[in-house]
Amino acid sequence: MEKIAMSNKYTATPSEKKVSIQTLHSKKSRGEPIAFLTAYDFPTAVALDRTGIDGILVGDSLGMVVLGYENTLPVTMQDILHHCRAVSRGASHAHLVGDMPFMSYQASTADALRNAGSLLQKGGMDAVKLEGGRDRVQVIKAITAAGIPVMGHLGLTPQSVHQLSGWRVQAKSADAAQALIEDAVILEDSGCYALVVESIPVEVAELISKRLSIPVIGIGAGMKCDGQILVTHDMLGLFDRFTPRFVKKYADLFSEMERAFGEYIADVKKGRFPAAEHANTMDPQALRSLMREIHMVADVTDGDEDPPARYH
Ligand code: KIV
Repeated sequence: MEKIAMSNKYTATPSEKKVSIQTLHSKKSRGEPIAFLTAYDFPTAVALDRTGIDGILVGDSLGMVVLGYENTLPVTMQDILHHCRAVSRGASHAHLVGDMPFMSYQASTADALRNAGSLLQKGGMDAVKLEGGRDRVQVIKAITAAGIPVMGHLGLTPQSVHQLSGWRVQAKSADAAQALIEDAVILEDSGCYALVVESIPVEVAELISKRLSIPVIGIGAGMKCDGQILVTHDMLGLFDRFTPRFVKKYADLFSEMERAFGEYIADVKKGRFPAAEHANTMDPQALRSLMREIHMVADVTDGDEDPPARYH
C-alpha cells in the first residue's frame, strides 16, 4: 500500500483499504495513534477521507456547530440521519460512526435497537456511539447482539449537561475517577469496540487506556489516549461562540469566511463582480438574428403600443 506523504500532509491512495474495527484494534496494539474528527456534510467528509483520517464521527455536536442550538439535546434521529447520509456519500476509507441522539436510546431497548439499526441501514454508518456508563449495559448488549458495533462515551457526556451542572471537567476526585474507570471496564465487558472519553484528567485517561484492550479516543483528555477526536468546526475555527480550552485551532475559517463575504458584497455593490470572465455570451450570429427579430417585433408593434423597454 503506497502512501504519498508530503511534509505533514497525508494523502490516501485510491487503493487504501477501508478502516475497520480490526484496523483500529491493530493500531492500538501497535501503539499507533488513531485520528478521528467529526463531519456533518459531504465536502468535509471528502476532504477528511482524502487526507487519511482513521475515523469520522457524525456527532450530535452538529446541533451546536451546524444547527445553532445551545446544546445537543434538540438533535433528532432525522437530523443525524440526514447528515450521516451526506457524510457516507463522501467517505469511502474512513471508519464511520453515527452518534445516537438524546432520547433515541434512553427510553427503551427496542427504540435503541431500531435507531441504531437505522444509522447503519439508512445512514450508511459502520458503527454507532452512545453516551453513559453502567446504566447502558442492557442497551449496548442488545445493539451489539444485533451485529451493530457500539462506541461508548464517558466523562463529560453532553446529553447529560444539565445533570452535570454544565460543561465541566469530570472525574477529578479519586472517587469519581474510580467510578469512571469502573464504567469504562463495564462498557468494554458489555461489548463496546471503542470508547470516547471527554474532558477528564490526563491521568485518568491514561489509566483507562492502559486498562482496556479496546481503543480509547480522547477529547480534552490529554495525550495518553490511544487516539484523539476533535469537533471539526472547533479545530477549523468555524464555530465562533466559544472554543473549549483543549482545542487546538488549525485554521481561522470563520474570519476567512467573513473576509470573503465582505469582499463579495463590496464587489457586487461597486460593480466589480461579475466581470467579463464570469459572464456567458451568445454566439455573434445568433445575437444578430435575435436583434433582427426584436426589431421586427418592435416595427410591428410601433404605433399601437410602446415596444418592450428592455430591448432598447
Ligand atoms: O458529538 C460529538 O461531536 C461528540 C464528540 C465530542 C466526541 O460526541
